[in-house]
Amino acid sequence: MQKLIIKGKKFLSGSITISGSKNATLPILAATILCRKVKIRNIPLVKDVFTMIELLNSIGLKTKVNRMQNSLEISNFKKKLNTIAPYKLVKTMRAGVLVLGPLLAKFKKAKISLPGGCAIGTRPVDLHLFALKKMGAKIRIKNGYIYASAKNGLKGNLIRFPKISVGATENAIIAAAHANGKTTLLNCAIEPEVHDLILFLNTLGCKIKFDKRKITIPGIFVPREISYEIMFDRIEAGTYLIAAALIGKKISILKVKPKIINTEIKALRKMGVKFSIGKDKIVVKKSDKMKTTNITTSPYPGFPTDLQAQIMVLMTKAQGISKIKENIFENRFMHVPELKRMGAKITVNNNTATIIGPNKLSGAEVMATDLRASVSLVLAGLVADNRTIINRIYHLDRGYENLEKKLKKCKALIQRK
Ligand code: UD1
Repeated sequence: MQKLIIKGKKFLSGSITISGSKNATLPILAATILCRKVKIRNIPLVKDVFTMIELLNSIGLKTKVNRMQNSLEISNFKKKLNTIAPYKLVKTMRAGVLVLGPLLAKFKKAKISLPGGCAIGTRPVDLHLFALKKMGAKIRIKNGYIYASAKNGLKGNLIRFPKISVGATENAIIAAAHANGKTTLLNCAIEPEVHDLILFLNTLGCKIKFDKRKITIPGIFVPREISYEIMFDRIEAGTYLIAAALIGKKISILKVKPKIINTEIKALRKMGVKFSIGKDKIVVKKSDKMKTTNITTSPYPGFPTDLQAQIMVLMTKAQGISKIKENIFENRFMHVPELKRMGAKITVNNNTATIIGPNKLSGAEVMATDLRASVSLVLAGLVADNRTIINRIYHLDRGYENLEKKLKKCKALIQRK
């Protein structure tokens, strides 16, 4: 099994180009089930994206990845596709469930494995099913699979989500784009990745409109041939901003839209991180003493749960007590015991972590447990004394493109074994 070995305390300098967003790529790839021929550009070459490509292939779409250009061509001229998403593909990546909406809308039936729980919480799909049922789907759960059908096709409807969910909003948007008649979705997720999906569908001519948490989908679908560029990965950008704040001399974060990550920039600024912000880049200057702050994760435009583990590492460097309240997932503090093994002073009470700083971290052998928890250990390793060894790094490969290469370019002492 591969591991990462980091020799800490080496100051970073240089520039990091941010990849395309994994979380925008996955729903857009699911939506290509509705298309005939599209080219998707700026895809991150990470494991989750390849799993989604494998799922599209198993459904019957033709895909061609250009690794040099980070692009993917998808063609789909078959009249009949295999409308099944098997357990082996959905169990490793919950976003596999996003093929349910488009398969059901286009082929009137689908059989999708239930994704089950994962390390960060139970993660049900009831909201996905709720929206599709409102569009007329009949749904049955049997032997770990969702059996969905809509004999006469899906029909547009007014749907108010009882709770905000990124995936359920995306599944409903894709399904509604190919349904009969207009759908209005209320209490939607408005993450930038949801907007990227809408932009992709609108490039195809879907005429979807959004106003705050209300999304209107007319149900017009013309399978035009288009080329579309995925937005930047805002979580990857946030992760490197924090790395720069922790141990950067001067780091430029390139290919970003700073406006989209305003909440994160504000939070870091409050902690004393010094930036200069351009149109599509952010330069992080050497930051001195970190100040404490309190953070509550919440749906966009709130502070992202996917950046919670990373900012916790920065909080270990702040003078005094910082708090993080995790409001999205029930079990997302698995990085805490590992950070404590590196010398961090953190206590967890229900969904709140209290971080007492400033703290010297020292290198240790640690275990990655999920994608974002893993990268927080990388950040901790970069500022810790001596050597940190991170095991189970396959989690990192699910979502960070060229992590070691990007950090090495900034002079970090990091290697994979
Ligand atoms: C997406 C992101 C993930 C991010 C999360 C929250 C992708 C591929 N993944 O995940 O990185 O951490 O948003 O920003 O884009 N829930 C239900 N019922 C459902 C669906 C969700 O109760 O049917 C709950 C979840 O358990 C969780 C909350 O709603 O507590 C938010 O989950 P959701 O927004 O759906 O996250 P994902 O789309 O799975």
